[in-house]
Amino acid sequence: MSAHAWHPIAAARDLPPRHVFHAKLLGQELAVWRADDGFINVWENRCLHRGVRLSIGLNEGQELKCQYHGWRYASRTAGCTYIPAHPEGAPARRIANRIFPVIERHGLIWSALETSPDDLQTSLPPDPLVLREIAIDAPAAIVEPLLAAYDPPGHGPRPIFFIQPTDSESCVIRGVVPEPPPTGALALLRLHDAALCALRDVAEQRPAA
Ligand code: FES
Repeated sequence: MSAHAWHPIAAARDLPPRHVFHAKLLGQELAVWRADDGFINVWENRCLHRGVRLSIGLNEGQELKCQYHGWRYASRTAGCTYIPAHPEGAPARRIANRIFPVIERHGLIWSALETSPDDLQTSLPPDPLVLREIAIDAPAAIVEPLLAAYDPPGHGPRPIFFIQPTDSESCVIRGVVPEPPPTGALALLRLHDAALCALRDVAEQRPAA
């Protein structure tokens, strides 16, 4: 769970056009958005003006506009391009938000809080079936052994799981089925969803439904 390690922070489907997704990794809040040219931005979720969350801002295609006073930040650099209170002044490009590395792979968006020395190493095929993410109010250390013992429902293919440690007390399970059967994907998703919800209840020590 190192800050240099790659972790999934979202599914690719969480980033439709002109949307901003609120993610969290190791206690760090993130604003994640896909620009119109496809580039994915992962930024600290905090406007440089008064600290308002950028995840409630507007994705305008190549810029993100803060919802509060309208400061704008450019895709890729996160440099501030416009401050409404100083419309005649030079754009404050030297002011830039904090950005994090990003990779889109296997239907998931991956990031690391510190620059990772290694590329994300996986040997998955390019188009696995991506399971619905399951948020759990329990630390990753509790969830890991439960996932290791996960028994695929219906004796289907075993998913590969990744844990997104949102902070020290909670995490998100993200899973992909590397070689899904050619038919029945929806039924398979539902089976895994039910099994993972049961696993969540065990991790959170909830009484069985
Ligand atoms: S807090 Fe973002 S522009 Fe003021």
